[in-house]
Amino acid sequence: MDHRTQVAIIGAGPAGLLLAHKLRRAGVDCLVIERRDRDYVEGRVRAGVLEQVTVDLLAELGLDQRLRREGLVHGGTRLSADGQSFRIDFAAATGGRTVMVYGQQEVMKDLFDAAPDHDVSIVFNAEDVALSDLDTDRPVVRWRKDDQTHTLRCDYVAGCDGYHGVSRASIPATVLRTFEKVYPFGWLGIIAEAPPVDHELIYANHRRGFALASMRSPTRSRYYVQCPIADRVEDWSDDRFYDELAIRLGDDSRNLVRGPSIEKSIAPLRSFVAEPMRWGRLFLAGDAAHIVPPTGAKGLNLAASDVVILARGLIDACLRDDTVALDHYSDQALRRVWKAERFSWWFTSLTHRFPDTSDLDRRLQIAELDYLRQSAAAQAVLAENYVGLPLEAR
Ligand code: APR
Ligand code: PHB
Repeated sequence: MDHRTQVAIIGAGPAGLLLAHKLRRAGVDCLVIERRDRDYVEGRVRAGVLEQVTVDLLAELGLDQRLRREGLVHGGTRLSADGQSFRIDFAAATGGRTVMVYGQQEVMKDLFDAAPDHDVSIVFNAEDVALSDLDTDRPVVRWRKDDQTHTLRCDYVAGCDGYHGVSRASIPATVLRTFEKVYPFGWLGIIAEAPPVDHELIYANHRRGFALASMRSPTRSRYYVQCPIADRVEDWSDDRFYDELAIRLGDDSRNLVRGPSIEKSIAPLRSFVAEPMRWGRLFLAGDAAHIVPPTGAKGLNLAASDVVILARGLIDACLRDDTVALDHYSDQALRRVWKAERFSWWFTSLTHRFPDTSDLDRRLQIAELDYLRQSAAAQAVLAENYVGLPLEAR
């Protein structure tokens, strides 16, 4: 079967669906091609802290009704060193800026639910997706579904298919430069039907390793402990998990309610950037181009800021035949990506125990946390990065 559209979007994760909603709202034709089904995409548990840029994008797309009702505004966070914590007030340090706690799964549900009304079309269960003619002005996307072969001719391809997708792999190795760091530990995370230990997040540096107390709602907690990457979920009963979490949270664990876990998984930590984020008429956005370790919850937010920048370029190109903004996409997006990579790497380095952490390294971490506790200037640096750096004007 033959199809035709202006922008082919590969992947229906946050990057692909946000882009599709944004393009359709501006009157640009697009089609989303997704390898899996909706339940799979929506079911993946990821972070849950939205920057203002992301909240603004959802509002502009008319997708913020539930977010306004159910999202939790957080004006600060706690940092803890060996069981004793202090608060950083984002709002005071940044002139009133805050973040919104709202799970990525909820964002995905809102994006999928609104798709039919917003004229966003998604092909699910597309097999063997392949891109070709990307360095011509008539790129082609092919896939198989129900034993039929489909061919989609388009003007541009948006590669929003995540770290393992086909888009980045379609760029010749001679063009692409990649930068990568794999961290020597994982995050073991649970979701529990129990009220969170505090009303804001707690990032804990303990000599036994990192812990994070987060939440999804006033009755649902999200907790993580740093663990060896070789550990398996079966090694960690709920009791063992909570015992370790309580030690690492120290004083802040007094109100810990040990609800049974309803989800438990181990995630690796990686910093990764691919440059450039464009080849011919293919443009990468989100995890297809970059990965951050989850400390600071920048993954989804970076996907959203890529989409804001890319959509401007695609809309100008498709509706006005003006490619100036599109030609700046990769450079502009990468400037923001690298700053978020830096922040996520720094926050990870400050709060985790590395296998080669020496006594000196450990004292330096504690000194830096103490400096953060005392210095308004240091707090402002953390806060302005945490709530999200402003988007460059076009
Ligand atoms: N063809 C079509 N779709 C594909 C292909 C392919 N070859 N490969 C992967 N996909 C789909 C995946 O099934 C997934 O639904 O692309 C989507 C990519 O979604 P994400 O991995 O979530 O990436 P992105 O949209 O960039 O979101 C970035 O969300 O998932 C988090 O950790 C991530 O927070 C980060 C943010
Ligand atoms: C989460 O709630 O899952 C979460 C919150 C903050 C992070 C990472 C994950 O930095």
